[in-house]
Amino acid sequence: MDQRENEDNLESTTVTSEIDTRFAWDYMSRSPKIRALYEKGKAAQWNAVTDIEWSDDIEFGAPLPDVTNNSSVLMRGRPGCPIPDELWHEFHWECHAWLTSQFMHGEQGALLATARLVETVPDLDAKLYAAAQVADEARHVEAYAIYVRRLGHRYPVNPSLKQMLSSITSENRWDIIYLGMQVIIEGLALAAFRLGTTGAVNAVIRQINELVARDEARHVAFGMLALNGLYDQLTSRERAEREDFVMEAALLTSRRLLLGEIWERLGLDGRRGVEYAQREPMMIDTRQLMFARVARNLQHLGVLTPRVRAHLRELSLLPAGAGRTA
Ligand SMILES: [Fe+2]
Ligand SMILES: [Fe+2]
Repeated sequence: MDQRENEDNLESTTVTSEIDTRFAWDYMSRSPKIRALYEKGKAAQWNAVTDIEWSDDIEFGAPLPDVTNNSSVLMRGRPGCPIPDELWHEFHWECHAWLTSQFMHGEQGALLATARLVETVPDLDAKLYAAAQVADEARHVEAYAIYVRRLGHRYPVNPSLKQMLSSITSENRWDIIYLGMQVIIEGLALAAFRLGTTGAVNAVIRQINELVARDEARHVAFGMLALNGLYDQLTSRERAEREDFVMEAALLTSRRLLLGEIWERLGLDGRRGVEYAQREPMMIDTRQLMFARVARNLQHLGVLTPRVRAHLRELSLLPAGAGRTA
């Protein structure tokens, strides 16, 4: 994490770093699978202005649907829950505003990190795919920004997410950009969409999430194709650096999911809220479900070594005893 954040205020953050820009003079396609994904990506483009039913209601604080599998709803009334009943409705909406705001900020991170990949990856197939992904991310930022503005309730970027995005966008090692963005951040976002963690509060966010999730599945596949077999060729020192990166990213991920900003906005005791989020079994389950696919992908890439696995268990991102024999 050697980036220099030399300018940081409410309006913008500047991350300064040295990056290699690589031209690829061999125009032959060498990665047919990445080319096929590129074709798929081009055909699946949509328009955030015209393909979303923006005329449907978006109302912060509207009555919540009765049936939802959202873990925040299932937490209600459980022992030790720090949210008093009268704040329950507000808590749910604050969670929604927080999560959609973090999607918006994360999408901007994906936009910038993937633009960085266009510059720095060595092969042309990956440059072309990454450029198509940049266009996807532009639509994602656009869609969430319109949604959050219409919701009228927004959160700043979570400090742990910001730290991770700064770290990724300052990287000169292109494989670490993939590892941080395509494999971890986008893998987690995809899992969150599949678990329905934004809750079915209105038709607009459902439609945005569906469109975005389709793109994100492709983006994760891109990262996995690009990194396939790569870590087998690294020295043990280089592999250890990747493990360190994954461990730091996991730490930041676990911190980001403790709802610190929400406890404070509701006027509740922040420390108690964070402690509760750390040990509440249902919240632990949700974090583990979100991380499960990322862990499988890390294993496939050869980065889920015993050292990394132990760290993930310590952070409760993997169940105790998970994969001890793997
Ligand atoms: Fe995205
Ligand atoms: Fe993405």
